[in-house]
Amino acid sequence: MVVTTTPLRSTLVQPRLEVTGGTTLEGEIRVSGAKNSALVLMAACLLSKDSLLLHNVPRLTDIASMGEILAALGVRVTRSGETVELLADHVSRAAPPYELVNSLRASFFCIGPLLARMGMAQVPLPGGCQIGTRPVVEHVKGLKALGARVTIEHGVVTAVVPGAGQRLKGGHILLDCPSVGATETLMMAAALADGETIIENAALEPEVVDLARLLRAMGARIRGAGTPTIVIDGVPSLHGADYHVIPDRIEAGTFLIAGAITRSSLLVTPVITDHLGAVLAKLEDCGCRLTPEGEGIRISAKEINAIDLRTQPFPGFPTDLQAPFMSLLATATGTSMVVENIFENRLQHVAELQRMGASIRMQGNTACVEGVTRLSGAPVQGTDLRASAAMVLAGLAAEGITTVRGLEYLDRGYSQLEHKLNAVGARIQRVSGDA
Ligand code: EPZ
Repeated sequence: MVVTTTPLRSTLVQPRLEVTGGTTLEGEIRVSGAKNSALVLMAACLLSKDSLLLHNVPRLTDIASMGEILAALGVRVTRSGETVELLADHVSRAAPPYELVNSLRASFFCIGPLLARMGMAQVPLPGGCQIGTRPVVEHVKGLKALGARVTIEHGVVTAVVPGAGQRLKGGHILLDCPSVGATETLMMAAALADGETIIENAALEPEVVDLARLLRAMGARIRGAGTPTIVIDGVPSLHGADYHVIPDRIEAGTFLIAGAITRSSLLVTPVITDHLGAVLAKLEDCGCRLTPEGEGIRISAKEINAIDLRTQPFPGFPTDLQAPFMSLLATATGTSMVVENIFENRLQHVAELQRMGASIRMQGNTACVEGVTRLSGAPVQGTDLRASAAMVLAGLAAEGITTVRGLEYLDRGYSQLEHKLNAVGARIQRVSGDA
């Protein structure tokens, strides 16, 4: 019998956050630019030979990876502070390197603009991740509806515009599900297509609207973004733009929950309230007081009561805040039902919360969370970027020290999370791998 053991060292040396619980937070916490907007806006630079200036771009590993992928395609990418300049005047290849793409699912955003610009694109399948299989069936179906010939071999998607013209044709696309990535991919491809494209059952997320605003600033003719039907009249070319990325609604929601779980009064700013309607409603339902203050929202919480939660496409409750909100409900008075409807495997944080004394029972995609008076600090593992954030939040409220591993996920979506939280009273220390 072969016994494989994980060397003790590999678990001890992972970089981790040590969170000392029990402090209340106070002051103002800043929200960075939206990761899930900036990533797709960066890919849109491929649609034009002119310079694209993006402001309020967060400093995240995912953003850096996207920059590397675009640079490998021949794009000149330069960052100065929170501004990134992208110049795709000479795109040297239509296939991002495999080893880079593997590190970033969002690199699949390149396929639409590359195909529209070059008449061909070759991008590895993004593949699954911890939270689900993450298919791109709708993206491929839509590109075919725009006239592309798409094949998938050896894990690589190859899309070609047949014929000499190398220009996609407008088409009518009915998405089987309101996929954010598919909607964004097809908007970018259709922007340079010949003729009108209609995308039905489009995703309504704020990041889709942000992309449409950028594309219009670049000269695209798009209407209906933010509604289920988007109409794009293709144009022969797009010019550059100087654009400001929206604030990150998921980071904002994470910080609001940090205020709630520590029973604090905290100003989170900036926040676009329309981007967080369902989350703000649930925070009020469980007893938080929310008051607009300047460009942000002040949250104050004393008692937190149980509520029921089900994730849905926008404007429903966002799947990305399901794990952070469950940490809050683990400390609420009463029993909450949490249903994850978007991804097939996004409840792995339940086991980690149970290690901290949370009382949670699982059945399929539903978690029954019975609030406890106090969580207890423990060594926990973040299993995706939002679950890692949820463990930090639970640590803020726990008795003692919580050691959070999985920072490779956390740093993908949160820029300087511990610095921002420590600045308002948290006690979090980042311990590097070799300590
Ligand atoms: C985007 O992912 C976000 N990522 C995700 O954020 C977010 O959770 C998700 O939208 C939902 O809001 C970025 O924007 C980079 P989808 P995306 O296609 O586009 C199914 C984070 O934590 N589906 O809307 O990949 C799919 O399996 C990340 O920041 C199909 O069935 O999400 C999933 O169940 C995680 N067929 C659901 O739709 C398809 O062809 C939503 O996926 C495509 C998707």
